[in-house]
Amino acid sequence: MTTPTPEVLRGHAEHVYAHELSALAAHDAHPRPPMWKLSPRAVLTYLLGGRLPDGTEISPKYVGERRLMEVAVATLATDRALLLIGVPGTAKSWVSEHLAAAISGDSTLLVQGTAGTDEGAIRYGWNYARLLAEGLSEGALVESPVMFAMREGKIARIEELTRVQSDVQDALITVLSEKTLPIPELRTEVQAVRGFNIIATANNRDKGVNELSSALKRRFNTVVLPVPDSLEDELSIVTRRVEQLGRSLGLPAVPPALEEVRRVVTVFRELRAGLTEDGKTKLKSPSGSLSTAEAISVVNQGLTLSVHFGDGTLRARDVASSLVGAVIKDPVQDRAVWNEYLEIAIKKRDGWKEFYAACREES
Ligand SMILES: Nc1ncnc2c1ncn2[C@@H]1O[C@H](COP(=O)(O)OP(=O)(O)O)[C@@H](O)[C@H]1O
Ligand SMILES: [Mg+2]
Repeated sequence: MTTPTPEVLRGHAEHVYAHELSALAAHDAHPRPPMWKLSPRAVLTYLLGGRLPDGTEISPKYVGERRLMEVAVATLATDRALLLIGVPGTAKSWVSEHLAAAISGDSTLLVQGTAGTDEGAIRYGWNYARLLAEGLSEGALVESPVMFAMREGKIARIEELTRVQSDVQDALITVLSEKTLPIPELRTEVQAVRGFNIIATANNRDKGVNELSSALKRRFNTVVLPVPDSLEDELSIVTRRVEQLGRSLGLPAVPPALEEVRRVVTVFRELRAGLTEDGKTKLKSPSGSLSTAEAISVVNQGLTLSVHFGDGTLRARDVASSLVGAVIKDPVQDRAVWNEYLEIAIKKRDGWKEFYAACREES
């Protein structure tokens, strides 16, 4: 008897979508930049979805303006790096992972930017045991994901670049302008081979934390990822992602009740905008960012509740508890904003009676 191999909780894009990537490569007649697994056109199809001549469905990863993705992909084929900027939950990390997966077949060369990220995370460090045993040597060197990507001609990703201290950020300037990483201790350097580039992400909300220096900014092309334009766009992002997540959590494939999902997305959009969808009632906005990503987890949590403890259909009471949790981040201020919203916007809305009652019960 064989024991089943445990499945990882979250696979890397290049594994989860391996069949799409290989089908795209098989049908890709367009020129590929050096070291790219796919042509820019095929990368775009991978991101935006489509159907191949043999009938293979390519699922859309990014829902939004095509032009933004064209600019992002084209940038990576030049000698400039790509900076994705946006408020939280606008798919910056998601797009960067898929770009790296489609272009390099590897989305794992990742540096997570924090206030504590040091130069070693971007350049290289040392294995001290080997340093003591062997002295300064190649073998004692610990490559950063960036150095590895330079050597292999791949895409490296830097998350939340503006959280990294400025002097550490500046380590990137030589990498991006000279395409080399000097290792003075060994009197050598690593030169980037073709195919190497960097995708960095930065959060609008961190503006002013560690603003990029102008020298570094000049080396990036910036693409701003917007909050979804319309209710319908945002709704399609949420339903699609909830379906995918449900599958990876092993939930039975029940279609999430569209009406309930629409309500969640509507609440998020109205509170974010400080205005009801009909444009008639002004609202106060709570302190949290109420991103699309949070709407996805509210619906996902609701679905889990309904599958395990309810009747398998997503109902108002299944979404209400996590919705209230997502909205009320500050127990005093946000609660007041939420209660006011329920009273002036939701209470009298046609068809929202059950939803109103469920939210009231939770608040
Ligand atoms: N425009 C969009 N198209 C597709 N998915 C989106 C979009 N906006 C948000 N998402 C979803 O939201 C989730 C969070 O995105 P993430 O990349 O973590 O946000 P960010 O890094 O911008 O804070 C992802 O699961 C992604 O699928
Ligand atoms: Mg992110």
